[in-house]
Amino acid sequence: MTTRRGFIGSLMTVAATASAAPPVSDDGRKKIRIAVLGGGFGTNFQWHEHPNCEVVAATDLYPLRRQRLRDTYRCDSVYNSFEELLRTRANDIDAVAVFSGAPDHVKHALMCFDRGLHVISAVPACLTLEDAEKLRDAKEKTGLRYMMAETSYYRQACIYARRKFQAGEFGKIFYSELEYYHDGERDKMVADKTSLYYNPDGSNSWRQGFPPMLYPTHSLGLIVGVTGERIASVSSLGWGDPALMEKLRANAYDNPFSNEFASMRTAGGNMVRCNVF
Ligand SMILES: NC(=O)c1ccc[n+]([C@@H]2O[C@H](COP(=O)([O-])OP(=O)(O)OC[C@H]3O[C@@H](n4cnc5c(N)ncnc54)[C@H](O)[C@@H]3O)[C@@H](O)[C@H]2O)c1
Repeated sequence: MTTRRGFIGSLMTVAATASAAPPVSDDGRKKIRIAVLGGGFGTNFQWHEHPNCEVVAATDLYPLRRQRLRDTYRCDSVYNSFEELLRTRANDIDAVAVFSGAPDHVKHALMCFDRGLHVISAVPACLTLEDAEKLRDAKEKTGLRYMMAETSYYRQACIYARRKFQAGEFGKIFYSELEYYHDGERDKMVADKTSLYYNPDGSNSWRQGFPPMLYPTHSLGLIVGVTGERIASVSSLGWGDPALMEKLRANAYDNPFSNEFASMRTAGGNMVRCNVF
């Protein structure tokens, strides 16, 4: 697992080969020039606070979110679309923080790789095995860096458990229970269209009816982030009440479930019970 600081450190040598002369920080090292795509969760980071990093451009489709990007990163080069940003700025940025909606991550990461830009992407990395292969192939072909911004790894409980595990204090972990329970909506939020399930213009966001197990990373980060094991096999059940939730009656994913449970086996042969509700 690469730390954020490690990621930035590892980009230092690569930045030196970028076409336009990159800025230099007080310690004489090249600064990483990052562009941020997405003014929702994408405004929750601190790249602009790092001495070896600069947010040089940002973009969102919605004006309010462009303003949030401007305010958060103190960056005035804000574009109306990612396409426009790349057309204008691809030659003087080193990396892109991809914080668009989950179904767009692969498309946007590939656009970055195509232009020689490193990527840090919000989770989930992708939604299908085909897209996972495309992502891996592009990353290997270009030799560029790809970092997945999973947050469970940095939760205090996860850090604590990781340290205990690494110190051998748990012995062998043969069974784990992983849970991530996302907040839902109150009636008023549905009526006002102010929850995460709506875009700022009131249209349905990608979250409407999104299958929980297509986004298990916050649960899985709790085992990958402690023992480092990968999941080798999965068997899952789902539950949902379409009478209760309109978004389960019709959605872009043809998904009837709001809650999913899975039994998993790790590559190391251990058992995992994982909930995404
Ligand atoms: N803890 C975590 O790790 C965590 C928490 C929240 C969200 N996320 C992830 O972060 C991502 C963003 O989440 P969100 O809630 O902000 O989603 P969101 O859909 O509210 O925001 C995505 C933004 O991307 C912008 N966008 C999409 N295509 C664009 C384009 N071509 N050009 C410019 N802007 C474009 C949209 O306008 C939108 O504002 C999601 O993938 C989500 O899974 C992770």
